[in-house]
Parts: sequence; structure tokens; C-alpha cells
Amino acid sequence: MKLWSKGFEPDKMIEEFTVGRDRELDMRLARYDVQGSLAHIKMLESIGLLTADELDVLTSGLNDIADMIERGDFEIASGVEDVHSQVEFLLTAKLGDIGKKIHSGRSRNDQVLVDLKLFMRDELLSLVRAVKKLFDKFQTLSERHKNVLMPGYTHLQVAMPSSFGLWFGAYAESLIDDVRMILAAYDIANQNPLGSAAGYGSSFPLDREMTTRELEFAELHYNVVAAQMSRGKTERAAAMAIASVASTLGRFAMDVCMFMCQNFGFISFPDEFTTGSSIMPHKKNPDVFEIMRGKCNRLQSVPNEIALLNANLPLGYNRDLQLMKDIMFPATTELIRCLDMCVMMLDHIQVREDVVDDPRYDYMFTVEDVNRMTLGGMPFRDAYKTVGMQVQNGEYKPTRSVCHSHIGSIGNPATERIALKMQNVLDGFGSRL
Ligand code: ARG
Repeated sequence: MKLWSKGFEPDKMIEEFTVGRDRELDMRLARYDVQGSLAHIKMLESIGLLTADELDVLTSGLNDIADMIERGDFEIASGVEDVHSQVEFLLTAKLGDIGKKIHSGRSRNDQVLVDLKLFMRDELLSLVRAVKKLFDKFQTLSERHKNVLMPGYTHLQVAMPSSFGLWFGAYAESLIDDVRMILAAYDIANQNPLGSAAGYGSSFPLDREMTTRELEFAELHYNVVAAQMSRGKTERAAAMAIASVASTLGRFAMDVCMFMCQNFGFISFPDEFTTGSSIMPHKKNPDVFEIMRGKCNRLQSVPNEIALLNANLPLGYNRDLQLMKDIMFPATTELIRCLDMCVMMLDHIQVREDVVDDPRYDYMFTVEDVNRMTLGGMPFRDAYKTVGMQVQNGEYKPTRSVCHSHIGSIGNPATERIALKMQNVLDGFGSRL
């Protein structure tokens, strides 16, 4: 059964090919579809296209469907194309001709856009919440281990003293920039496309400002063509934010794998958080972080997939856009799972406190000794040369005391400032967060 049925049913293969995964993916849009319809009919009544009684009947019909969705009783029947059709069919089956009135001044093109905007707004908020949990975890670990030294590397060669506090704190602060990206995507999603109809507006005097208020969008997509163009563009911004978080998390996962390796041996996890080998009895593998790294690497291809799907599409609605859902929907879910998993693992991370006592890290103290001599009055280049010659001749003995005090350094990791910076960005999401 089709909303656009005119007495013939399309070929079964055509139907299957064009509907694709919509019946499954659209389930996530169901509650937003009802929310959009509730705002739309309220507006239709205000411009005289529905009577007050009709509005009441339709509102309670839609609320019943919303309850069905909440209870998990809603499904998109086979033979029904998508969630938009299913909601309208249910309403008409229940209310008769009144149900057929809700689609005035609307097309599935702007209907799906509204659903997606509302959905993505919520998804991005869920993503921010998951990022914030990981941020808090990093901050706590940074504070807890701020006095535990570890080697810092450049070119993956032992370089200078660093600390576990700096390592964890670095990922905390890095996540703030990812949240800025999410906020940008959120602002792009938070605009009302309703009333753009098929993509060119309507001859009904639609009150688009009213639906903007009803759906609590921050802004309107004024130009109806721009509203339609926002499909794909909204996803692209969200995908970039997802990729940004994934890049931070993927790098952290790599660090963990490396630092768990016996050649480093900086951190470990209780046995039950590691995995074994079927042949090597001693193995405790970091599979969680390897899977996380792999997933995060894959997630970084999402903006590319979206960009290619969108490339050179002509103006207006094109069915290709339906495939955005196949790419976007699993991506956020996958990323949130990785973030949650990381928090869970970090609840159990064990940090080795005496890493830098190992003589293999002696040379990381050379710069400390050069600086000490320089503070004592020797020109930097002479101090550098003196210590350099000691190393060259095998006579270097590290002092092993580290006193970095400037902001953002080992002795002053600025955890509170970083917390404040995050809060300022989070404030941009307003009260919905
Ligand atoms: N499933 C469609 C999508 O996601 C809904 C819009 C259908 N519009 C149309 N003109 N066929 O894009």
C-alpha cells in the first residue's frame, strides 16, 4: 500500500530495491515523525485548514501512536514504504477521513527532513553526554596521577619527562575541540525545514514561524530550497563531528595498546578485561582497544561517504538522500558504544608508578640538566654541549628531579582551567543538554 497509490502496485523487486533498509532504520524516526505531525496539525488549525475539533481528534490519535511507539508496539508493516506512510495509514485506519487531512501543505520530503533534524539533534546530545563522561574520567585520572612520571616521546624515541597526568589530561582537553565540532553540527541540525514541502514551498499560507516554535528549533531554514539542500549537509556536519571524536578516541586506543605492550609496560588491566590466545597460554591481549581503534578508524571515513553520496546531486529532493540514513544511523551508535566502553575500561586501568626508574629512560632527563645549568648562569648552548658530551662519552648521570611549573606542564596541568573550558563549550547547547 502506498500513499501515492493510483490503482497499481509497483513491481516487487522495484519496491524492495527502492525501500531498502527504510523499514528498519525509520523505526528510529517514528517518535520524531509524530512530533513533527503534532506541530504541523496545530499550525494547520491556526491557518484554518483544520477545525478545532479536527485538531483535537487528530492530536489524540497521534498521541496514541506516540504511546504505541513508546511501548514498543509500533511497527512498519511489510508493504508500507516508510514511517511517514505507516503513521498516516494508522491514523486514517483509526479516524477515517480526518486522518487524510494531516498531509496538507506537507510532503514526505520535508517530513523526513524534520524527523532527521529532530533525531540528529537528540543523537548529537547523546554523543556529547557520552563524550563528557569520558572527559570527566580523563580529568579524574589526570588529577590522580599528576605526580607519576612517564617518558615523553618524539619520533617514538625517548625524549623528555612527561606524566600520566599530562597524558590523560591531553585527551580530556582534546575532546573539548571535538565537542566544538558537535556543537557546530548541532546548530546546523537545529533549524526548522518544515513547510518547504516537496522542496519549493506551498500555496497554503503556512505559518512556519509557529512550527519553529512548536518544535523548539533555534532557527528557521527560511529559503525552501535551502531547507531541502540541508539534507546531506546536516549529516555531513554531524559526520565531521563524529570523525573528530573518533580520531581522538582512536589515537588514545592506540596509546593504550602501545603502553600495554611488555616493551613499555606502563599500564595494565585486570585479567577479566583482557582477552587470551588459543595457542599462547600467557597472552593477555588488549582486544577491546584494538576493536575500538579499528571502529574509530572506520568512523573517520563517514564524512567521506556522506560527501560522495551528496556530490553533484542536482537541486531539490533526490531519492539518493535516503541512503544517508544507512550511513549515519549506525555511526553515532557505534561511536557512543566505543566511548562508553572506554570509560568502563578506564575505571579499571592500572598505572605503573615507577616506570621512569628504569635506566633505559635515563636520557630523558638531559634537558632537565641542561636547563638547571642554564638557570645557574651557563649559556644554554654551552650547557647543551656539556651534557651532550657527557652522553657521548657514556658519563651522563641523570639528576632525576623534574620541576616544571608553567601552566599546562607536568607540575601545573591546569585541570580546573580545562574543566572550565569544557563547560563554556557545553553551555552552547543550552538547557536541552
Ligand atoms: N524514505 C524517503 C527518504 O528517506 C522518504 C521521502 C520520500 N520522498 C519521495 N519523494 N519519494 O528520503
